[in-house]
Amino acid sequence: MLNGTLKLAVQKKGRLTDKSLQLLRNCGLDIDNYSDRLFVNARNFSLDVLFLRDDDIPEYVQDNVADIGIVGENVVVEKKADVRIEKKLGFGRCSLMIALRDGAELSTPQQLNGIKIATSYPVILKHYLESHNVDSKIITISGSVEIAPSLGVADAICDIVSTGQTLRLHKLKPAFSVFDSEAVLIANNNIKQYPAKFELLQRLLRRIDSVLNARDSRYLMMNIPAEAENEITGIVPALKSPTIVPLADKNALALHAVIPNDTFWEIIDDLKAAGATDILLLSIENMIL
Ligand code: PRP
Ligand code: ZN
Repeated sequence: MLNGTLKLAVQKKGRLTDKSLQLLRNCGLDIDNYSDRLFVNARNFSLDVLFLRDDDIPEYVQDNVADIGIVGENVVVEKKADVRIEKKLGFGRCSLMIALRDGAELSTPQQLNGIKIATSYPVILKHYLESHNVDSKIITISGSVEIAPSLGVADAICDIVSTGQTLRLHKLKPAFSVFDSEAVLIANNNIKQYPAKFELLQRLLRRIDSVLNARDSRYLMMNIPAEAENEITGIVPALKSPTIVPLADKNALALHAVIPNDTFWEIIDDLKAAGATDILLLSIENMIL
């Protein structure tokens, strides 16, 4: 690995792997398929991708094995890693939750008093229990926490819930939410001392911003009756002033605008009622504001 190359750690195999690589590719990085390799390099950017266990990533970034990393915020907080969270990445959303066996009913966290809770997140769980003045016994296990209740090792678990499939499979149900998390980009605290790497990180962050901006927006195009211009520009929640282009047909105009992704279905009926036709909604790959 070259000295000036930015080393980025991503999860080797798990919930965040594909989406982390997809984000890098959307940033224009040409990255090989990793299969079983320990690391791959980007062909068009001075960056190596290291594939590591997610639990190890915060410490590796802290200790400079990698310069930066993509990992769940839950893991960063649990490991008490001394790293900078540079950016929340908007994917890998999940919650760390206390879950009980189907049939067990608890309405307040205080009812957790005296029970055994198995988890891989003892630090975050302890903090939660203390802040609710609850005294439970924390059983720390490193993996497959969800089987602890059926083995009789614990009465409840505290684990990451994303789709909820793992809980359902093990006849557990979520009771209390302990911590909400998503994927974050972390960096070594001293990266500024390496100007070449720091500059690469800034370039990468600008590209990530453009991808994140684009992800939340759509490009809307339509034809409108000329006399409905004011009414329709009033309906469209454009991020900037929309573009209005005259058409060969003097009675019609074309309107283009960038809109927040989630607003399209709210305005479509009003647009049609106001006379808009040939409505196209396109996704945007990159958006530099
Ligand atoms: C978590 C958790 C479950 C799974 C839950 O693992 O331990 O295995 O995700 O997801 P679901 O609600 O969609 O079924 P995570 O990917 O955080 O990492 P880990 O395997 O390193 O624990
Ligand atoms: Zn893990």
